[in-house]
Amino acid sequence: ALEPYDDCWLRYGEVDGASLPESYRTYCANVYASVGAPELGAVREELRRGIDGLLGREPHLWQHPPRSAEGFLAVGTPDEMEVVHDSVAVDAVDSLADGGFHLRTTEWEGCDVLVLTAPTDRGLVYGTFHLLRHLSLGRSVDDLDLFEEPANAERLVNHWDNPFRRSMERGYAGQSLFDFEALPNLDDRYVDYARLLASVGINGVVLNNVNTEIPDRESANPAMSELAGWRLLESRYLEDLTGLAALFRRYGIRTYLSVNFGAPEKVGDLETSDPTDERVERWWAEKADEVYDLIPDFGGFVVKADSEGQPGPYNYDADHVDGANVLARALEPHGGRVWWRAFVYGSHSDRAVQQYETFEPLDGEFHDNVTVQVKNGPIDFQPREPISPVFGQMPDTDLGLELQITGEYTGQHVHACYHVPMWKEVLEFDTDPEGHGKRVKELFSDPGTGLAGVGGPGADPNWTGHYLAQANLYGYGRLAWNPDLDTATITDEWVRQTFGHDPEVVETVTDVMHDSWPAVVDYTTGGLGLMHMMYNGEARLENHYDPNPEEWPGYHGASEDGIGVDRNARANGFAQQYPDALADRYDDPETCPEELLLFFHHLPWDHELDDGRTVVQTLYDNCFAGVELAETLRERWRSLDGRVDERRFRHVAERFDEQVVQAERWAETLTAFFYDHSGVPDELGRVPRD
Ligand code: GCU
Repeated sequence: ALEPYDDCWLRYGEVDGASLPESYRTYCANVYASVGAPELGAVREELRRGIDGLLGREPHLWQHPPRSAEGFLAVGTPDEMEVVHDSVAVDAVDSLADGGFHLRTTEWEGCDVLVLTAPTDRGLVYGTFHLLRHLSLGRSVDDLDLFEEPANAERLVNHWDNPFRRSMERGYAGQSLFDFEALPNLDDRYVDYARLLASVGINGVVLNNVNTEIPDRESANPAMSELAGWRLLESRYLEDLTGLAALFRRYGIRTYLSVNFGAPEKVGDLETSDPTDERVERWWAEKADEVYDLIPDFGGFVVKADSEGQPGPYNYDADHVDGANVLARALEPHGGRVWWRAFVYGSHSDRAVQQYETFEPLDGEFHDNVTVQVKNGPIDFQPREPISPVFGQMPDTDLGLELQITGEYTGQHVHACYHVPMWKEVLEFDTDPEGHGKRVKELFSDPGTGLAGVGGPGADPNWTGHYLAQANLYGYGRLAWNPDLDTATITDEWVRQTFGHDPEVVETVTDVMHDSWPAVVDYTTGGLGLMHMMYNGEARLENHYDPNPEEWPGYHGASEDGIGVDRNARANGFAQQYPDALADRYDDPETCPEELLLFFHHLPWDHELDDGRTVVQTLYDNCFAGVELAETLRERWRSLDGRVDERRFRHVAERFDEQVVQAERWAETLTAFFYDHSGVPDELGRVPRD
């Protein structure tokens, strides 16, 4: 029989636990939590569920401190609860950033008390999940004295869901979670989704795809525009969103919408959407008023403008500043933000140079409540890319780092590919090693800056298509909250909460996760920085999964004499967009990091690398090494037979069977392609010669 959807990492002791410390019972069998705000409903419900799971019995929930108990858990703000007020340093709690919380074990009137407090109710929600994670991991609560606050103010998930069609762009887990047609009715699953997000500290959810119209499809089938995402701004649909927004609000999450720049014409009845036209200004302001009447804590608008067919200010001879600012002025009185995407490209021969060229000159001109949302790399979520040169070079603009949670180019949740190690590389990157630059992770501490993770889960029972892909949502949230966390810590937390504490399971799953990204990089790119050798698909939305290196020669530059693209001083000067220290490093093939070599340089096939191997031989070797690693991952997973529940064991095992077949196809296709162009045989004879 079909089982209900998965609990992901919120299993609470359903997985065979390590023996729990006795003090858990003392502190948690009784919960005294305030009841006022809606968030406290979420807190009490989660504690009931979590403690029940962990201790094997439901806690007592109190509205007064229990006098007969040996100890209890007290949850509330210092203002609201005397126990809390008496037990903590109130000033220290009040100075925590929004979302922050404090956990402390102490004594109160002869009772052992575990206090969970925060300056805001939202902080209590995050604190609740943090405490339950702490307990699930079997960590001690004796002498607990911990202050936590998010490093990044904004921690968004961007759904690319197409409302009304219930499809998801680049989603690999079935239909959209959100049934917009059925709103205002709410599905129970929305609560579980909000729980998953809040448990890792997410504070914003963008409900719909940045492609609010899909021009190719809409011109082929006009009925499609009836179902376009821009319609969500119509009054009848906005009204339906209030319940969903309230549900998310209980979990500290604000609701956002992607909007179409042409909305004044499409949704309204103006004949222009020119951002410098007063009527357009007024239309957006009135629309914002309407939205905030319905959803008082609405987060704001996300906009993809002048990119891949979406309308934008260029249609009106205006620029990105005019475009973003007109929306920003409308949202400002309500405390909302515009997230203006920097993923724009037009007719340029190399997409890499465009982002910086377009946005850097605009530094300092965006309104205070605009966040410019920049993808981690200059191309498009490739398995590995250099860091976008925009980071660190727009000091007077609030930036958001856009990462892709969904595995569009990394095996689409058929292949296991854990993105956390890749994101750590991005976050730790020093944007100006010899200047006064900062690491990427240090760029988002101001209000209005933060992270946007693209691609939420879908309606499939395991949420992400592949059970192991759940780790990307988990890891994204944890890093958005605290980018200093290291990969090993995040993996360990996720594995134990998801699969339990059996040391062999923990070690094996951890190894699988940590080797999964390197495997995908090797067989889909050859490991030297080549881009986009994926099949593009007939309609723009369908592939990026199968190998097809012939399709986009511009990306990898393969020819008879060599491979790679000169993005350096000899050519289009992309390397020179970086500060000098980085530009120099990238510009010289001798100092350019090997994993990015062919991104920056077109080199002869027989160019020698540090270890004496040639470029072409290294590409061959890496492709085959990727396949071997994929086989190793499969073997490791198979060794867990009987140690992981049958349902998840088999599902993942079968995904690995498919991954290995696909990895072989990739390696065969790429190595044949390299051979065709170079005519250089593989020294180990693995590549067939004609
Ligand atoms: C990629 C992706 C598209 C998406 C676009 C974007 O090109 O393939 O599906 O629309 O990025 O980020 O806007």
